[in-house]
Amino acid sequence: MANVVVVGTQWGDEGKGKIVDWLSERADVIARFQGGHNAGHTLVVGGEVYKLHALPSGVVRGGKLSVIGNGVVLDPWHLLKEIEGIRAQGVEITPETLMIAENTPLILPFHGELDRAREGQSTVAKIGTTGRGIGPAYEDKVGRRAIRVADLADAATLELRVDRALVHHNALRAGLGLEPIDREAVIAQLREIADEILQYAAPVWKVLTERRRAGERILFEGAQGALLDIDFGTYPFVTSSNVIAGQAATGTGIGPGAIDFVLGIVKAYTTRVGEGPFPTELHDDDGQRLGERGHEFGTTTGRKRRCGWFDACLVRQTCATSGVSGIALTKLDVLDGFETLKICTGYELDGVRMDYLPTAADQQARCTPVYEEMPGWQESTAGARSWADLPAQAIKYIRRIEELIQCPVAMVSTSPEREDTILVTDPFSD
Ligand code: IMP
Repeated sequence: MANVVVVGTQWGDEGKGKIVDWLSERADVIARFQGGHNAGHTLVVGGEVYKLHALPSGVVRGGKLSVIGNGVVLDPWHLLKEIEGIRAQGVEITPETLMIAENTPLILPFHGELDRAREGQSTVAKIGTTGRGIGPAYEDKVGRRAIRVADLADAATLELRVDRALVHHNALRAGLGLEPIDREAVIAQLREIADEILQYAAPVWKVLTERRRAGERILFEGAQGALLDIDFGTYPFVTSSNVIAGQAATGTGIGPGAIDFVLGIVKAYTTRVGEGPFPTELHDDDGQRLGERGHEFGTTTGRKRRCGWFDACLVRQTCATSGVSGIALTKLDVLDGFETLKICTGYELDGVRMDYLPTAADQQARCTPVYEEMPGWQESTAGARSWADLPAQAIKYIRRIEELIQCPVAMVSTSPEREDTILVTDPFSD
C-alpha cells in the first residue's frame, strides 16, 4: 500500500496525533487536505513535545515533504507564528520541506471576527466553533470571493480580490453592527507576509502526482472527525469542510484511485467539543470519570470535552462514509476499572429500531440509544503491546466493537507512547 489516509471517525480528538506520527516516519510526503488551525495535534518525538495546528505532522521529522493542500483554509499570520515556534524547537522548515498549494484560500482577520461575532449573538443557537474564522473562510471560498495564496504574488490582483471580498463583508458587518473593514490596512497586512508565504507556494497536485509516480509514499493527514463533516456530520453543529476520506483527493488534487488504505481513528469511548447532538453523552459520574482519566480538554481552545459511551452505530456509519479499510482503536486504558461498559448498538425512534442516526434534527433529538452491556476489566491495559498483554474482557470489548462497526481493527493504541501499540495490519505494507 503506497498511500494512506488517516481520518477521525467520531467528533475529532480520537488520538490521531500519535498514529499520524508513527505512520509519517515511514511516509515520504505528509499532506493536510482540509480544515485549518482549528485542529490541534500534540506530538511527542524524542521527549520533545510539539503542538501543531496548521502544519502537517511530518514537519517535525527530517527528510519529509509536508504539504498543505487546497482543501485547507490557511491563516498566514498564524502559520508564520507556528513555523517560528517550531523552528525555535530546533526543527528546520524550508521550501524544500514545506509546500502550500497555490490555490489554498486564506483566512483573514475579519473571518475570525465574523466567526466570533456570530457565536456571540444570543438569538441563534451557538455552534461552539473554535472562533478561528474557519467557517467564514470556507464561505468565501464557495462564494468565489476568497483570497488565495497565488493572489499574493501580484499587487493588482490582490487589490481586486480584496475589493470583491469587502463588498460582501462590509454589507454583512453593517448588519451585525461591526465597523467596516479598512481596505488599505488589509492590503498592507497581506503585502507584509506575501513573500514569506509565497516561498512555500507550489502546484501541489503536480508535485504529488510526480512523487506518486516516483513510488513515494503519501500520508494524508485528516483533521477533526467524520461526525463534524459538513455533509455527513451532525449539521449544523459541524465544521465547514468535508472531513471524510474522499476529501483527501479533492483537497490535494490527487485522484481517488491513489488512495490505497483508509485508516479510521476510533476512540474506545466518545467525546465531543462544542454544541450539538451526542446520543450517548453521560452527565453522571461515569462521564466525569472518562473526562478525568482521558484528560479530555481541547488542544486548541482548552474547552472541557463532553464524554459518553462508545457509539458503535455512529462509527459504523462513519466507517462507511469514509470507506475505512481498518481502524486504530485508541485510549482503551481509559476504560480500565469500570465495572460495566455500555456500547450503543442503535437507536429507538418513536418505537422503531434504527441502525443509523437519521438526518432530521427533530428525529435525532427523539432518538434514544439502545445499549448493550459488557462486563469491564479491572486490570490495567496501559502500555500493552500484544494481545497477550490484554485482559480477556478487553479483547472481547474490542472484538465486539469490530463486529458492530463492520470494520477490522488494524491497531490498538494503549498509551501516548509510540511503542505502546498492538499492530494487526500495517496500512503501509504491500
Ligand atoms: P469550527 O471548525 O471552528 O468552525 O468549529 C465547528 C465545530 O467543530 C465545533 O463544534 C468545534 O468544537 C469543532 N471542532 C473544530 N475543530 C476541531 C478539532 O480539531 N477537534 C474537535 N472538534 C473540533
